[in-house]
Amino acid sequence: DGPKPLAGRHALVTSGPTHEPIDPVRYIANRSSGKQGHAVAAALADLGARVTLVSGPVTLPDPAGVRVVKVETARQMLDACAAALPADIFVAAAAVADWRVAAEAGQKLKKDGSGPPTLVMAENPDILASLSIPGPQRPGLVVGFAAETNDVLAYARAKLARKGCDWIVANDVSPATGTFGGDRNSVHLIRLHGDPQSWPDLPKAEVGRRLAAAIADHFASGKS
Ligand code: C5P
Repeated sequence: DGPKPLAGRHALVTSGPTHEPIDPVRYIANRSSGKQGHAVAAALADLGARVTLVSGPVTLPDPAGVRVVKVETARQMLDACAAALPADIFVAAAAVADWRVAAEAGQKLKKDGSGPPTLVMAENPDILASLSIPGPQRPGLVVGFAAETNDVLAYARAKLARKGCDWIVANDVSPATGTFGGDRNSVHLIRLHGDPQSWPDLPKAEVGRRLAAAIADHFASGKS
């Protein structure tokens, strides 16, 4: 079953959407399927890494040979990631909700004739930015994803700087591409050091394998 260049490395991967509760029966979600993040986790495990996959609610099977921690909300995802440290590699592939409902209702909201409720939102923690903060716990290689509908490369560069991560995998999720929920992805790999790479349109499993291979190369070339 192939060479294990990532043997002895711990890789932490986030995947899937988050669900942010409104009341006990309702939540705010997004269209992430988790396919890309799960594929990255599986590919890193194939290269010998010990993998912790922190996943929001998805309908996918757990990848073989991976420890899966299941969460619902962004805050639970951050807590699970923090608890999984230290890690050599962090890949943030989850589509984390930017906002949650500030005060989850303890009981189901009712149509009581007073009109629709107003949802007051609060900002969620940015897991990628948090884990990118320099310090002894920062993973050696931090990789974010950037889903954009336009100006993909320019926004990815800006995101690399803003988040403090090392690489960004940027993909075009404009509706015509069918990326969300689909089985294929066409991405650009933008690195802090190194030229950008544009990969052809590929199955998400192959994008996962190429990313895992690039990560293995990074460690093989002694960059830590
Ligand atoms: O800012 P934006 O959501 O476009 O950034 C996307 C990247 O940041 C992805 O890698 C995603 O997993 C990560 N992210 C995160 N926590 C958030 C928002 C985004 O880890 N609250």
